[in-house]
Amino acid sequence: MGNVHALGYLGLGVRDLGAWEHYATDILGMQAEHTDSDGTPTLLLRMDERRYRLALTAGEDELTYVGWEVAGPDELDAVVRTLDAAGVAHKEDAALAELRGVRRLVSCTDPAGVTLEFHYGATAPKLPFVSPTGATFVTTTPDGRDLGLGHVVVTCADPDTAIAFYRDVLGFKISDYIVPIPGLVLTFLHVNPRHHSLAVAPNRPGADTKTEINHFMIEVADVDTVGRALDKVHAQKIQKLATLGRHTNDKMLSFYMHSPSGFGVEYGTQGLLIDDDNWSVVTYDAAAYWGHEFDQD
Ligand SMILES: [Fe+2]
Repeated sequence: MGNVHALGYLGLGVRDLGAWEHYATDILGMQAEHTDSDGTPTLLLRMDERRYRLALTAGEDELTYVGWEVAGPDELDAVVRTLDAAGVAHKEDAALAELRGVRRLVSCTDPAGVTLEFHYGATAPKLPFVSPTGATFVTTTPDGRDLGLGHVVVTCADPDTAIAFYRDVLGFKISDYIVPIPGLVLTFLHVNPRHHSLAVAPNRPGADTKTEINHFMIEVADVDTVGRALDKVHAQKIQKLATLGRHTNDKMLSFYMHSPSGFGVEYGTQGLLIDDDNWSVVTYDAAAYWGHEFDQD
């Protein structure tokens, strides 16, 4: 395993901060904090001990950065050495670290063009996280191992090159593959016991060659929280992307919906934890055992 140990935070540009605030607090169950990021209105969304896990900045609807957490200074230095050895340009930025509320931050760009921020020392306020919907988010194992905020799925023109970077340079491990139709390979990677923190897929045929966020997933501790969120989604006529279902690979019981930015959010529970000493990569021929039907609502 490499030096990255969790998906620490995500940065998203969003056109409608007001819609996101309602969505994140009332549907997802996160706490919202208004701030500004170098003068740009920003909404920080909290879901556990950390001050925030999602940072939404006013702008175009897009993934702006992915914060990959390392354990501490030695591990960050080790990431820098591996980037150097691989000839990957990178930059340590003290002002950006201050802005993100971390001790140190080194950024680079992955082969698909996604900005990555390796960091440690994230801010944890003394006041506890209190969910407006009573949700408890799963960001650690029961024995306290860091699982990160959830997972992010990115589509790009050249998945193989991106996956090689994550494996060979950063030390991510392949979890498994889903090949729902011949020729379409979805690749799942882990950095800790969470089944996947990252998945990479090719752009849809005929779609733009732009790298895009497909969805991010957040996990809650119990099925009733998923059900209550689903009730609200129906009541507020939020467009679902996929009905409730159980994934084959990570066994997540979840549904998918449109965020106010258009890209998806997966809301689920019961995700599988990987034991690397007893794990074999397999290829699934479907993404779900049941459900996850494209929704017409
Ligand atoms: Fe997912």
